[in-house]
Amino acid sequence: MRVLVTGGAGFIGANFVLQTVRERPDVQVTVLDALTYAGDEASLASVADAITFVRGDICDAALVDGLVAQSDLVVHFAAESHNDNSLHDPSPFVQTNVIGTFTLLEAVRKHGVRYHHISTDEVYGDLELDDPAKFTPDTPYNPSSPYSSTKASSDLLVRAWVRSFGVQATISNCSNNYGPLQHVEKFIPRQITNVIDGVRPKLYGTGQNVRDWIHVEDHNTAVWAIVERGRIGETYLIGADGEVDNKTVVETILDLMGQDADAYDLVSDRPGHDLRYAIDATRLRDELGWQPQYGSFREGLAATIDWYRANEAWWRPRKEATEAKYATLGR
Ligand code: NAD
Ligand code: TYD
Repeated sequence: MRVLVTGGAGFIGANFVLQTVRERPDVQVTVLDALTYAGDEASLASVADAITFVRGDICDAALVDGLVAQSDLVVHFAAESHNDNSLHDPSPFVQTNVIGTFTLLEAVRKHGVRYHHISTDEVYGDLELDDPAKFTPDTPYNPSSPYSSTKASSDLLVRAWVRSFGVQATISNCSNNYGPLQHVEKFIPRQITNVIDGVRPKLYGTGQNVRDWIHVEDHNTAVWAIVERGRIGETYLIGADGEVDNKTVVETILDLMGQDADAYDLVSDRPGHDLRYAIDATRLRDELGWQPQYGSFREGLAATIDWYRANEAWWRPRKEATEAKYATLGR
């Protein structure tokens, strides 16, 4: 099987490529990635001989058409992915997340290629802290930020291309991922690398916001389950019952890294900051028999800390510019 992986030099896409090369020798992987600030070919260095890497933009219709024509499956990870950046400059989010997805959909429509669309639970907006409810595939879309609204737009394009043109597509909306190879702009790696640098972790607002954490490897096994056994046209929510508030995440990182539990700073809140995300993954578990392998968030976090300690050469080149960007936002 020939698989085109867009965004394969980013966090989740690179982990998907590494897992696929490791576990599926019958799959030929081509990565299409523009290598924006978020992409790093070094993430794929260990499999460079086993894959084809194409540097290019998913909005480049001619390039995309040629690559899709030679593929049996497209797994679309490429995106502008960081909420804080989307509040600063939404323009690349509209371009990559909406126009890029449109470009891919037109190519898979033309060539009759199976398509899997990677999305986020943030398309559903947020939940109250004391609400027992979780997001389900029937939750109405209600995105809050330029990031989540452009992801929601891309999901709706996929649904329309399935219904109107019979495109063979599935969608997954996953909760917050953690693990190796995540950019230091994101919450968990930012705090781990801050502590390594002797800088106190930074919590937005009061730190009460809740995210539903899943290890990136579990996300990617779910993607393969959906690709292989999912029903065409369906949306599957991916989550591992990992709800933790941000303050507890920071306290756990501090504890695992041998610091005092209160050695963090509260900083100004993110505008429009979603309160809580929570996923009901019943459809994925019952229909496709998927289960997460990373049972304990604390253990997964400890392994992630070990990874950042051991791979400073990977993240160090981006740390200074990332913190300079945050400094301009006062966060
Ligand atoms: P990331 O920012 O780490 O990686 C994005 C990758 O896409 C980078 O390699 C970048 O170079 C590439 N890219 C960006 N614009 C491009 C373009 N125009 N053409 C080609 N390549 C381009 O993102 P991530 O965290 O790995 O997220 C991957 C996908 O998973 C996204 O669609 C995101 O919405 C979704 N998602 C992420 C999370 C999470 O917790 N990180 C959770 C749920 C869903
Ligand atoms: P993030 O990793 O940006 O993911 P998302 O916005 O997609 O959930 O942030 C996760 C949570 O952590 C979110 O509630 C914002 C918060 N946060 C902080 O408290 N401090 C930080 O330095 C960052 C980057 C995020």
